[in-house]
Amino acid sequence: MAHEPNATDAQFYHTADDFFLSHRHLALTYDDVTLATLYSEVLPRDTQLDTALAEGLHLSIPVISSDMDTVTESRMAIAMALNGGLGLIHYNMSEKEQLAEVIRVKNHVHGLIQDPIKVTPDQLIGDVLEMIEKQKYAFSTFPVVDAAGKLVGLLSGNVIKPRFAKRKVTEAIIPRAQVHTIPQKELGTDPIAKADRFFTDHPGIHKLLVVDEHDHLRGMFAMSDVERIAHERKLQFKPARDAKFRLICGAAVSATRNAFGELDRDRIHRHVTSLVERGVDVVAVSTAHGHTKGVGETVRAIREAFPKLPLIAGNITSAAGVEYLADCGANIIKVGQGPGSICTTRIVAGVGIPQLTALYVCSKAAAKKHVSILADGGITKSGDIVKALTLSHAAICGGILAGCAEAPGQIMEIGGKLYKQYRGMGSLSAMKSGSASRYGHTKDATRKVAAEGVEALKEATGPVENVLTQLIGGIQSGMGYLGAKNLALLRQKARYIRVSAAGMREAAPHDIVELKTGAN
Ligand code: XMP
Repeated sequence: MAHEPNATDAQFYHTADDFFLSHRHLALTYDDVTLATLYSEVLPRDTQLDTALAEGLHLSIPVISSDMDTVTESRMAIAMALNGGLGLIHYNMSEKEQLAEVIRVKNHVHGLIQDPIKVTPDQLIGDVLEMIEKQKYAFSTFPVVDAAGKLVGLLSGNVIKPRFAKRKVTEAIIPRAQVHTIPQKELGTDPIAKADRFFTDHPGIHKLLVVDEHDHLRGMFAMSDVERIAHERKLQFKPARDAKFRLICGAAVSATRNAFGELDRDRIHRHVTSLVERGVDVVAVSTAHGHTKGVGETVRAIREAFPKLPLIAGNITSAAGVEYLADCGANIIKVGQGPGSICTTRIVAGVGIPQLTALYVCSKAAAKKHVSILADGGITKSGDIVKALTLSHAAICGGILAGCAEAPGQIMEIGGKLYKQYRGMGSLSAMKSGSASRYGHTKDATRKVAAEGVEALKEATGPVENVLTQLIGGIQSGMGYLGAKNLALLRQKARYIRVSAAGMREAAPHDIVELKTGAN
């Protein structure tokens, strides 16, 4: 039979247990191995990439953007979630700024905007203009409410113009009687369908406000959002949304210490509380060395205060590290010490484990503790993600996304080519901006610290969607070759073999003059 295991194959192409145990004297990474093809009835386009990282945290694609200050702020997190993944907002900014970034993601297009940004009747149009500019809002229609939260009208984008800057909102609003509303209690079980019908029945009306029995504002529908969501329902990889239809968003926190060097439990608690109040879906306790007392205590404190919050912690590369963080209350563990494209931890500290061996070791403990693991760092191509997903539940990408339009920072032109900045969170400049605690250092300029990352450039790569399309296509191809319909089957079916340096050379384009790369 075509799909029965073959004895000769089994001698060469090994299961994860057989392969990694027989190579236990050697630490291996992505390019050291290749996956064997298997009998398949699965077309790449029919493979499913959804992954459940924890109760209440489901992604449509297993890709997460790294919590680095040159990778993930709100624009990247929005793009990641719209494409079915997740962005982790970095913490190299004030807590207030990080909250604002999370709010931007959670306020991005969703069906029923439950807490729309409002203005008051006596504000000046100029103030509203300034608010839009400062908060970088992508919308310009605002419900107008009085001090008690009662709806008094709608301020349309047509009148939010510098020429009206000195006028009061009340002089320019569409009055309450002309604003279309729906009582909250009439929304039913499918509010989007309800709003969709309303917009069909009312040509020319683009906003529908939700009010309670006292005419207090309780939400807003925008026709463009409703149309986009109706379209999304047909997509293969749906945007990653929460139960209220908002895009999902993660945020990194550090194991902050006070002036006496003790864990600042109050501050960590306040910070996570504010993030949760803003709707954050997952918090990541992000450090270079996660198997430490400080990180364990931070995780424990967050878990005690928020029993249901999906919690990522790391980074570690040992089974003991997974068990420790899982026992402290983390349900998703980041694996990776030194594989990152901008990392120098292995060179500076002489520490770290090549990524595939680290993932295998950690996957054994993760299965025992019923936690998920994330392959963090060292991903340079879609094939690496396929290999990573044979041992983990999702991959965290930094460098591969840092050249995207949605990554923070300006595009710069050097010698006719376009680049964006990409730096390690352990580089000197990033540590000065706040990430020193991640590497166990202080920001104090009088102290000498050893950087564990470099500052670099990445070629500009266009929108995240294009990069993810290439990555997803590659992951689906890999799954097709292994006959794996979903990620659980990919983990189960993978068979590995070590490749030689010549084998690696053979794997990339060779002995040709390349005219076009595969990505174009
Ligand atoms: P990639 O390979 O995707 O790696 O660019 C991103 C991951 O690298 C980690 N990271 C660092 N590791 N020094 C390190 O040793 C650093 O300065 C540094 N900055 C980020 C991090 O896990 C990230 O997700």
